[in-house]
Amino acid sequence: MIVTIEASLDYPSWDLTSRQVCDVELLLNGAFHPLTGFMSQAEVMSAGEKNEWREHFWPVPVVLDVTADFAAQLEVGQHVALRDQEGVLVAILRLSECYDAVLVEACCGSIDLSECCLAGDIVGLEAPVHHDFQRIRLTPDELKNQFAKLGWRNVLGFATREPLHQRQVHETYNAARAIEANLLLSPAVGAVSAEDTEHYANVHCYEHVLSRFPGHTTDLCLLPLVNRNLGVSDALLHAVVLRNCGCSHYMIDEDYCSSGETGLDYAGLQEALSACDGKVGIKLTRNEQLVQCSQRGGFVPRSSLDGSAETQELSHTQFEARLREGLDVPAWYSYPDVVETLRKIYRPRSEAGFTIFFTGLSGSGKSTIANAILVRMMEMSDRPITLLDGDVVRQNLSSELGFSKEHRDINIRRIGYVASEITKHGGIAICAPIAPYALTRRVVRGMIEKVGGFIEVHVATGLAECERRDRKGLYAKARAGVIKEFTGISDPYEQPENPELTIDTEGMPPEQAAQKVILTLEKLGYIKNS
Ligand code: ADX
Repeated sequence: MIVTIEASLDYPSWDLTSRQVCDVELLLNGAFHPLTGFMSQAEVMSAGEKNEWREHFWPVPVVLDVTADFAAQLEVGQHVALRDQEGVLVAILRLSECYDAVLVEACCGSIDLSECCLAGDIVGLEAPVHHDFQRIRLTPDELKNQFAKLGWRNVLGFATREPLHQRQVHETYNAARAIEANLLLSPAVGAVSAEDTEHYANVHCYEHVLSRFPGHTTDLCLLPLVNRNLGVSDALLHAVVLRNCGCSHYMIDEDYCSSGETGLDYAGLQEALSACDGKVGIKLTRNEQLVQCSQRGGFVPRSSLDGSAETQELSHTQFEARLREGLDVPAWYSYPDVVETLRKIYRPRSEAGFTIFFTGLSGSGKSTIANAILVRMMEMSDRPITLLDGDVVRQNLSSELGFSKEHRDINIRRIGYVASEITKHGGIAICAPIAPYALTRRVVRGMIEKVGGFIEVHVATGLAECERRDRKGLYAKARAGVIKEFTGISDPYEQPENPELTIDTEGMPPEQAAQKVILTLEKLGYIKNS
C-alpha cells in the first residue's frame, strides 16, 4: 500500500484514542511483531481462545474500535486516515473488515470498547510523538542496537508498572546475576495524560533506582504499552514486546497484574506464564523472593528462613497508606529519593485537593451554606478555594444553557470538569448546583475522585419548606406554569444514594449547617482539627 498525505485528505479520518495511539506506535515500530495491523474478528477469536495469530503466539486482541456512526460510512477496501490526539496523521488503515465490538468482549473478557471494530493492515506516516522522557523511549531496533553496542548478549527484561523499591532492586539484580544477564527495566507507561503527575513521579523513581544497580549493568526504557485489564494476557504481551526488543529473558513484577484481574497470587501468575514459556520465544525467569530480616542483616531468601526468624514486611498498600498519612517509611523498604518523590503524589488527605459538592432543590439552602463554609475556610487556612455556585455558573460558564435534562447534564459536567482541575492542583472547590440526576453526579464523583477528594452533601430540605421560602418567587411561577421544567414541581430530583453528609436546613441556622460540613471534612481527614 503506497500512501501520501495529499491522497489521505479525502479519506475518512479517525481520531485515535490514547490506547489506540500506543497500539499504532507498537505496530509500526515492530514491538508487536509479527502483527502488522488491527485484527479481524477471526483473529481476535484465535488470540482469545488459543493465544495465536496466524500460527504465531499472540496473547491479546489488538483491535481498532470506533463508534457505530463512524463505521457506518465505511466500505471494505477503503483507506482510513488515523490521527493522533493533536490531529497529526500517523498512519493509514486499509479496511478489510468491520465487526461488532461485543464479539471481542465475548471472547477475551471485559475491555472497554466503542461499538465497532475495524480490521486491516496499517502503513505509518509519522511516528506518534512523546514530549516526555524522550531519551528513555527507545524503539525495538534502537534497543537491539544499544545492546549490541554494549555487548549485552543476555538481557533480562523486567516488566513493571509500579516504582521499584529495595526488595525489587535486590530481586531483579540477583535474578540477572544468576543467569549472567544484563537488566532492562521496562515499565509499561502507555496512554498516560500529559498532566498525570503520577506518571512523572513513577518515571523519576525508576531513574532514581537505576543508580542503585552496579554501573553499566542495567538500563531503563519506557514502553507505550497499555494495560487492558486482561491479567495474564497483559503480562504475556509485555513478554512478546520484550522479546521483540532483543531481551532473552523476562521477569514480571509481583504487582504487575492485580489479583482482581487474574484471580491469582504471584506464584499462580508465574505458573500461568510458564505454561506459555516455550511459545513466547523469550525465557521466563522466576525470582527468588526476598524478605527483610534485620536479625540476618537485610534481605534474605524467604526460603532460607526457619520459623523462628523475625521478618519485617510492608505491603504496597500499606506503603501507600503510610505516605497518605504522612508517616515514616522504614529505611529498609525503599530509598530516600524514591520516597520523597512519591510523597508528592500520595499526599496526606489534609494536603490534597478536594471538592465539596452540594446537591438539593432550589431554595434548599445550598448557596447559603456554601458561602458560610467559604468564609469559615478562608478564615481557617490560606488554601485556594473556589466557589462554583449554581446561579453564578449559569451566568458565566453555562449562560447559553436551559433546564432540559440534556442541558442540566452539560452544566453539571462542566462544573465537574472545573472542580476536577481545581482539585487536581491541590485546591478546594465548593459546588452548589441542583444537580438533580444521580448518574451525572456519579460521573462527576468519578472524575474528581481520580484526582482528590469528593464530598457530596445532600441539602435535603423538603419541597414544602423550599416552596414556603420561595426567595426568588420561582416556585410560584412554576406552580402557575410560567416556568416549565422546574425541579420538584414539573421536573424530577433523584435523591442521592450515599452522600457523605445529609443536612435538612429546616430550623437550622446556616452557621450550624456549615459547622456540620466542617466536622465531616475533619472526620474524613481533609482538614486538620479547627
Ligand atoms: S441544574 O439543574 O443545572 O443543577 P442549577 O443549579 O444550575 O440547575 O440552576 C438552578 C437555579 O436556576 C435555581 O436555583 C433557580 O434559581 C434557577 N432556575 C430557573 N429555572 C429553573 C428550572 N426550570 N428548574 C430549576 N431551577 C431553575
